[in-house]
Amino acid sequence: MSSWTDGRREDPKPCREVDKGKFEVVALDGRARIGKLHTEHGILETPALLPVINPNIRTIEPREMWDRYGIGALITNSYIIWKHDNLREKALNSGVHELIDFPGVIMTDSGTFQSYIYGDVEVGVEEIVKFQKNIGVDIATMLDVFTRPDMTKQEVEQAVDDTIARAESSIACADKTMLNGPIQGGTFKDLREKSAFGMGNYDFAVHPIGGIVPIMEQHMYKDLVKIMLSSIPHLPSSRPRHMFGCGHPMLFPMLVALGADLFDSAAYALFARDGRILCPWGTEKLEKLEHWPIIMPSVSQISPQEVRKLDEEERTKLLARYNLEITLQEISRCKQAVRDGSIWRLAERRSHQHPALREAFLWLTTNPHMPRFELEIIQDMKITDRGAAKESGSSQGSWEPSWDWVVAGQSQFRTGGIHWAEEDTFSRPYVVQARRLLHSRYSQIGGNSDNNIALVLYGRQGPWRDFTLDLLMRLTTFTPDLQVFIQTPIGLIPYSLEDNNPFAHVEGPEWIWERKLDLSWARRELERLGVHDAKIIKLDLGPKDLLSRCYDLLFENEILDDKSKFLDLMSDEQKTEAKTSLKENQVRDKLAVHFNISITDAENLSKGCTYIMSSTGRIKNIIDKSGEHIASPRLNDGGLSLTSAGAKKIYGTRTKPIPDAFKPHMPWNNSGAGLPVVVVEDDAEPFVRKGRNVFHGFVKACDPWLTIDQPALIVNSNGDLLGYGISKSTPEDLLSFSKGIAVKTRGGISLD
Ligand code: GUN
Repeated sequence: MSSWTDGRREDPKPCREVDKGKFEVVALDGRARIGKLHTEHGILETPALLPVINPNIRTIEPREMWDRYGIGALITNSYIIWKHDNLREKALNSGVHELIDFPGVIMTDSGTFQSYIYGDVEVGVEEIVKFQKNIGVDIATMLDVFTRPDMTKQEVEQAVDDTIARAESSIACADKTMLNGPIQGGTFKDLREKSAFGMGNYDFAVHPIGGIVPIMEQHMYKDLVKIMLSSIPHLPSSRPRHMFGCGHPMLFPMLVALGADLFDSAAYALFARDGRILCPWGTEKLEKLEHWPIIMPSVSQISPQEVRKLDEEERTKLLARYNLEITLQEISRCKQAVRDGSIWRLAERRSHQHPALREAFLWLTTNPHMPRFELEIIQDMKITDRGAAKESGSSQGSWEPSWDWVVAGQSQFRTGGIHWAEEDTFSRPYVVQARRLLHSRYSQIGGNSDNNIALVLYGRQGPWRDFTLDLLMRLTTFTPDLQVFIQTPIGLIPYSLEDNNPFAHVEGPEWIWERKLDLSWARRELERLGVHDAKIIKLDLGPKDLLSRCYDLLFENEILDDKSKFLDLMSDEQKTEAKTSLKENQVRDKLAVHFNISITDAENLSKGCTYIMSSTGRIKNIIDKSGEHIASPRLNDGGLSLTSAGAKKIYGTRTKPIPDAFKPHMPWNNSGAGLPVVVVEDDAEPFVRKGRNVFHGFVKACDPWLTIDQPALIVNSNGDLLGYGISKSTPEDLLSFSKGIAVKTRGGISLD
């Protein structure tokens, strides 16, 4: 095999001096993010894999990693360089980039891992940080104290405290060099939290999650998930999170979905030396392979049999390249999934590929931290108990806030259908978020009828408006108090929101739509929608004669007693009136659910509206009674797009004072409080008024229910409305980030 001799890739350009050390997020999918980390050796896009380079044994040359594989950052060990006179001299004289021959971002570790393997290291806490700074690394690491899973709680706490105690002097020694502040804490939830809070207080550039190598080696993936959940939510969100020593591609999707930004891997080389290849589903032994499970560039012209015959060094190099290619491929796949909004789905699919991963995933999605009402929908679908209550030891304590954190990061409504995947479908955070928002916001409408009779339609997939319009017109005319709901595979929805994602667009076998309606489940769903003690009438949409079957049901329930009236041709006047009333209900409910305004305000705004209709008979523009275009329903996801006039009207309904601080994120408990506001600095006002985006660093306060990908109003400190847009941040993000877009402005409100 020939060695790599092709052309060189251009060296990176340093970031702007003011941006050095900053991290910005350019795309989000739940807690997963695509970010940019600004360094002197280029802007590193995350999630990224940093291959581990042993300065003494280079299986693949760093230059080749840069040129051939487009790798932007790697990690090497400053302790090894420090210990070897020849390496140390050269690094001090010419810098680490020349020593290693790598033009991109170089992160170094501090020797902590060596102390874990060999028991101790000779170097001092300040000495090793100063050394890293002096050899010109981009991201150095302080000497943290490694926490092993077999340590007692007392020992782990001591390690956490010692690490925190070293933070201040390490930061001082690093000076302008970016510094890693590792999070320790073993498998103890409270100690991980303590470590995250303690380390987060210092000005670290990156937070690695440390002490996880033995946990991954023993396939303790459930513990790994717990470690993530007890560390990451408590760190400043503007700092990248690095998974120390995690390089197996099998783990990437789940960890990216939980907020990991950086990985480092010696696995590509270690497994190669051991004659094994990495795959997204696990590892395979070369000796057993007749065929490559995945064909990558490095093996496109050579068979496993031929590789077995190579001498050891050549074989190791080739397998290392293969492993690196697979690893990079999975990172790339994760990144695209974040862009597509499907990272959770990828994690879900991957979870089936290893029993320990599946166990971790199921713990995450269905165990006791899930509020009862969310577990119920899974149990209603006949999923049996998984021994959820048998949690003990380090995992004791409530995990509900951690699950809430996962859910709260989800965007509200998005385009495209969701794929059915049995019980996994119900616990997707995005689905949970959509259900929670629907329930919390609709419940104020749900109970508004004095006469709670709910007609629940089931048995057929939408779009329902086409084949039920005639029925609905009659119901609106003859039984105006009746509330109509539809059974979808992921929950009951009001008829007025029949085109809302994700409920309306679940792609799967037909039977998911055709299943019978379970009355007790329907009752619980109605309760969640705020419809209490309702009499439920269920109507199967499958068979023919919908109208007369519906009439029979209404008759049986003593709601109607004149069949011919119900079934007769409706007059044009009746039809127009019925259609107007249906539209008004739709607009009222959408205003309440999508813009979070109170039912009274939604009713006032929707009364007397007129509509511009599309050629397919759907509402294109909503014009309020004063003749202003306030919003447009989105045909692809059932949401509403706001206009300037609409933003003013919605803002006019606000009764809460303008916030003057950042309060913890609370997306679900403010139903009826209106669209969340973001208060910007005075300097930003003229830009926002012209329709320019709001950037991090220019926001002074916001409402706690501000949620990603949800509409928000932009105001100044006097409470004047400046514009409206889509939030790209939670309150925690606004508090923490100093670079990147905070709110994508959709429209500015000019002064005239
Ligand atoms: N490499 C793998 N795990 C660790 C850790 O916990 N701390 C440091 N500094 N390096 C590591």
